[in-house]
Amino acid sequence: MTGTDRTTTRLIGKRVLITGAASGIGAAIARRLASEGGRVALVDRDPVVPEYAASLDGVGYVVDVAARGAAETAVAQILSDLGGLDGLVNCAAIQRNGSALDVDDAAWEEVLAINLSAPLAWIRAALPPLLDSGAAAIVNLTSVAARHALPNNVSYVATKHGLLGVTRSVAVDFGRRGVRCNAISPGSINTPMFAEYVRRNPEKASGLMDQNFAGRFGEADEVAALCAYLLSDEAGFTNGAEFLIDGGRTAAT
Ligand SMILES: NC(=O)c1ccc[n+]([C@@H]2O[C@H](COP(=O)([O-])OP(=O)(O)OC[C@H]3O[C@@H](n4cnc5c(N)ncnc54)[C@H](O)[C@@H]3O)[C@@H](O)[C@H]2O)c1
Repeated sequence: MTGTDRTTTRLIGKRVLITGAASGIGAAIARRLASEGGRVALVDRDPVVPEYAASLDGVGYVVDVAARGAAETAVAQILSDLGGLDGLVNCAAIQRNGSALDVDDAAWEEVLAINLSAPLAWIRAALPPLLDSGAAAIVNLTSVAARHALPNNVSYVATKHGLLGVTRSVAVDFGRRGVRCNAISPGSINTPMFAEYVRRNPEKASGLMDQNFAGRFGEADEVAALCAYLLSDEAGFTNGAEFLIDGGRTAAT
């Protein structure tokens, strides 16, 4: 599917900013939103992002989401390019191994900065135009690690728990003013991040497959379909919720 093959038209008129949009789930969300008529503004530190955005008739910016002032600068540029903002998807994240005993300080700070402080900074920068929109939505990519621990991953687990808290706080603080905020918690989804996790933890691969009841890992396009719904006005009564998309893995815990 390309950005111009419409699946539905429910996102026509919606201008949506997506962080971490050069790869995996973020790239699939960008493609899906464009296919439903949305106008996408893509942010990633990967230099391929402007070209990818152009292929979807969108705009792309090479940005480190955790850099000081980056969100304000990028949002100002996006407002100038698109004229407003109706949605934000916080997708950029990283994962580093380490338990409470051996996670090094630099890795802890880096994961916190990208996975938790940056989503808050991008929400803060995007809120003024989202409040002006009248019918806006934020989607934060959390994880099954927002509700239980993954072994040897204390920084990632802590940030995903925290991002779920940010999601609920934004939902209650801004829901009455026309900005909804929801979380998507994927299980194991076939993306470069997941492949890297399995490469670093090969002993976990068969266990992860056994933990879901679909007989396969998930696909980024399946997460994107849920995200498109949450950004659309069809989800107008959905606020502060966490949506699992994990092949049933959590149902068994
Ligand atoms: N893949 C999974 O199994 C899985 C499971 C649960 C949650 N998630 C979540 O879904 C989201 C997307 O994950 P994915 O698997 O597609 O990952 P991915 O690694 O394929 O893509 C992440 C993207 O974020 C970008 N990024 C990372 N740090 C950045 C920074 N500082 N500034 C700008 N861009 C940055 C990367 O360049 C990359 O394009 C993440 O929030 C992740 O935690 C993924």
